[in-house]
Amino acid sequence: MAIVLITDNVRRSRPLIEALQNLGDCRVVQLDVDWNKQAPATAIVADCDFTDLSVARCLKSLKDRQDITQKVLGIAYRNSNKALQTAMALGLDACIPFYTEPHVVVAAVQNLINPNDGDLNAAMRRCANKAATAVGQLFESAGTRGRIDLTAVDDSVDPILTALEDGGLARWLNAIEAHDKATYQHSLRVAGLSAQFATYVGFPDAQRRRLVRAALVHDLGKSQIPRELLLKRGSLNADELAIMRTHTTLGYDVLRASSDADSAMLDAVRHHHELLDGSGYPDGLSGDGISDIVRLLTICDIYSALTERRSYKPAMASDEAVKVLQGMTGKVEPRFVRALDRSLAA
Ligand SMILES: [Fe+2]
Ligand SMILES: [Fe+2]
Repeated sequence: MAIVLITDNVRRSRPLIEALQNLGDCRVVQLDVDWNKQAPATAIVADCDFTDLSVARCLKSLKDRQDITQKVLGIAYRNSNKALQTAMALGLDACIPFYTEPHVVVAAVQNLINPNDGDLNAAMRRCANKAATAVGQLFESAGTRGRIDLTAVDDSVDPILTALEDGGLARWLNAIEAHDKATYQHSLRVAGLSAQFATYVGFPDAQRRRLVRAALVHDLGKSQIPRELLLKRGSLNADELAIMRTHTTLGYDVLRASSDADSAMLDAVRHHHELLDGSGYPDGLSGDGISDIVRLLTICDIYSALTERRSYKPAMASDEAVKVLQGMTGKVEPRFVRALDRSLAA
């Protein structure tokens, strides 16, 4: 899906651009765009001051090229009735105020493209809320008691798989944006990506469930890493990095102390930072020592971390993240990188 974002301030629009990238390719243009040189798009989002005459000129020239898009959504960044009225008068299909959260803007775009999407988005949000609560309780219990009860996680696996089958990965990633804790968001993103990926490569049902279950808990050990380290802006020094890396063995110990953890889960939690050339951690495994489930999870984990927005870094575009993975020659399974690339476009 191609989305065009018109903005009069790229810096201000950055969080929105990153959120729209969950939907597909997001091209950013400014008010002096030549619409005759733009390829058609599924939707256009205008994040502008609609009382500015140059915005009106830009949208009028867009109207002259009716073949370029299906729908135009306006975001009036000046919160005034005049701005909203002017935006609607410019012939937009819908208009929302500037304070709308980026993930809600994405849902609005989805609703514009397909008005029946409302129910799907609501179902996704319910499922994401339930899974986020389960992951939150898990981290809480791992951090305070050193053991966990996996029942709530197990109960989330089938709803996540169903939600993804019904609504697709983009909607899932967008529903997750509503959750404020980066670690929970990350676990839910990796679970969604793994599920999409496993379906694409044809994993049987039981293996898909094991993978999603493992993905939801893979960073469990972070519950025992000091918060200031998890939230630190900028890169970690050698000592901090060594502490951060213990999340793999800490998570493994928590899981081992808990009943119901299967071998795939234990393997994933301990080994998702191992690399095929032996340069990963904590055990320096290489080649055949790393299972397929772990290889797949590692790729989803790296892709997810790169494309997530954090307080200390912007989100990387999807195609750039795939290029980073393609450049990790000898470290990650190239067959799976190719499959991830194709599964994201599927
Ligand atoms: Fe990790
Ligand atoms: Fe991770």
